[in-house]
Amino acid sequence: MDLISTEDINQRIEVLEASHSVASRLLTLIERDDIGAREVATVASADPVLVQRIMRMANSAYYGTGGRVRELHAGIAILGFDAVKSLALTSLVEGSGTITPQDWDHSITSAVAAGEVARMIGADQQQAFSLALLHDIGEAVIASLDSGFHEVLAERRTLPLTADFELAMLAAERKQYGLHHGAIGADLLASWNFHPDLVQAVAQHHTPKGSLSRVHAALVDGDRIAHLIASELSMDQIREQPSVLLPNYVGDPQLAGVLANVKARSTAMIADLF
Ligand SMILES: [Fe+2]
Ligand SMILES: [Fe+2]
Repeated sequence: MDLISTEDINQRIEVLEASHSVASRLLTLIERDDIGAREVATVASADPVLVQRIMRMANSAYYGTGGRVRELHAGIAILGFDAVKSLALTSLVEGSGTITPQDWDHSITSAVAAGEVARMIGADQQQAFSLALLHDIGEAVIASLDSGFHEVLAERRTLPLTADFELAMLAAERKQYGLHHGAIGADLLASWNFHPDLVQAVAQHHTPKGSLSRVHAALVDGDRIAHLIASELSMDQIREQPSVLLPNYVGDPQLAGVLANVKARSTAMIADLF
């Protein structure tokens, strides 16, 4: 098989930047300060898949709206522009490749977990949720160029994170594609003018160094929690494996409760969305 190169990745990012889809118009529109939910809704309404996602998410139990949200602008107001922007960027990438149900599962579980950790550490919950929703968007970009990468992802999703595993994963991606998925995702977010803190958080979600912004800390923990849930390890098994990376801001006494809570809420949201 021909290897895909950094050039291929950069070209794909350029195509995604230049795309004139509804999603790209939305991403540009949300940049403006004077914009309201109704204007965002007018643009979003041209993309039925995006509309359906926004409405299903706004009506999911997670937001406690009791399934009573009927109008798109109301749904957008409930999710917030950050989450709508994340969904729009996901649609943009989806336009050139497949995002599998397992990928969605990981994104949503990480988002719910990051939101929960953000609540615990006093960070912006909505921002942490939205960021975690697209933290692995770089993986989707790679998969859109190399369909064999879906298999790699399917296996990756079910493993708990360890420091060795993360280093090996990033090194393998760098060797094969020139860039790892965090760097690819960060390039994409930077090209769409996401805040530099969010760009940095995505670039370094597997290699957090020094003091992190709070939203970065919530993302790192959210990702670790999502991997722990997908691994289906019991608390005893988790404790027996000292190499497993645990969330930094969830202590051992709280961990079982947080895992159960995030699993229940993310499972409900996934069922509402698909
Ligand atoms: Fe990742
Ligand atoms: Fe992840």
